[in-house]
This record gives sequence, structure tokens and C-alpha cells, in this order.
Amino acid sequence: MNALTSVAAAPNISRLRGFVSSFAELLASTDEERAILERGSALLRKLVAHDDWLPEAYARPDPTRYQQYLLHCDSRERFSMVSFVWGPGQATPVHDHGVWGLVGILRGAELVQPFVRNAEGDLVSGGPPALFRPGEVDAIGPGIGDVHRVANAYDDRTSISIHVYGANIGAVERATYDTAGRPKRFVSGYANRTLPNLWDGIATA
Ligand SMILES: [Fe+2]
Repeated sequence: MNALTSVAAAPNISRLRGFVSSFAELLASTDEERAILERGSALLRKLVAHDDWLPEAYARPDPTRYQQYLLHCDSRERFSMVSFVWGPGQATPVHDHGVWGLVGILRGAELVQPFVRNAEGDLVSGGPPALFRPGEVDAIGPGIGDVHRVANAYDDRTSISIHVYGANIGAVERATYDTAGRPKRFVSGYANRTLPNLWDGIATA
């Protein structure tokens, strides 16, 4: 394999680098949830419109459970970004986030079931599951609802979504909920120990 072949086959990491830079600029301009979700959605839609940039190490499913790979965490932990990789048929429990979040579909498809609190304070279904396909973006947040259950829409292939959250999400204490709506605290952590090199090839990009 010569050097030219190697460069041509490399993931287009400049897309990820550009997204991270643009998102940091967005957060420097506002801390209002609605503005972040609206303008951040446009940035994420642009990123997931192409499937040529995610390094393979952060796209690997696990046969036992879905994987959450950290792609980037802002140095001030204002936002983090993960690839969420679903094996066939895998699903989350009902869970919350405690911060705003954006979810863009890169590969495959996801089913998202929202949950809301009724007048008695019980968690109930907020409507039928919505199907999200590549290029589409969903938003969650304390201001618009942040409790849901998510599943790979396929039982015969991997799906991948790209998430952005308003914190270092792997370190945030949040909750899953059982069928009676009882919370159980959890901290998700991340599946990976190393991060993509955003700056690789920048001299020639
Ligand atoms: Fe979620």
C-alpha cells in the first residue's frame, strides 16, 4: 500500500473537526437552549448528511449491548459528542439526560419513544415511536422533554447515530426508569479509552 492509497482510504476527519469548531462557536454565542437546539440541529444535519468521516474504531457494534463512543469533549465540558452504535435489535431502557441533546442518524435507523409526566407525576408514553432515518436529527432537553426509549429500527443490521449533549454526558448522573416509573441512578461512561485525532492531516486538508 503506498501513501496515496492510504490517504485516499482515510476517513474524512475534517468534517468532524469542522463540526466541533462550529459547535464551540455556537456555544460561545448563546447559552439559550432553544437557540442551541435550533442552530445546532442545522450543524448536525450537515454532518450526518455524509457517511465518510467516522473512523471504523468508533463504528463497531458489540453483540451484548449498544456502544457509546466518545468522539470529542469540549475542554470546558460545555458539550460532548458520541457515536452511538446499535447492534441488530438492541434498545435502551427508558432514560433521561438532564441536559439538552441532539441526535443525528448516520447509518441505519432508530425508533424513538418519548415519555412525559402526567398530572399525577407518572411517566407515561408521549406518543407512538418516531422513526428517524439517515440525515434526520432529533432534539431533547429539559425545556422540551428529555425522557425516552430508543431502539435500533432493524433486527438484522447495525445502526449508528451521532449525539451532541450539553455536558460531558458520560460523567452525568442521570436515571433509567422501570415500568412503574421508578428511577434508578446511572452514569454511562464511554466504551472507548482513546479518541479520534481531529488534527490528523490538517497541514494538507
Ligand atoms: Fe437518550
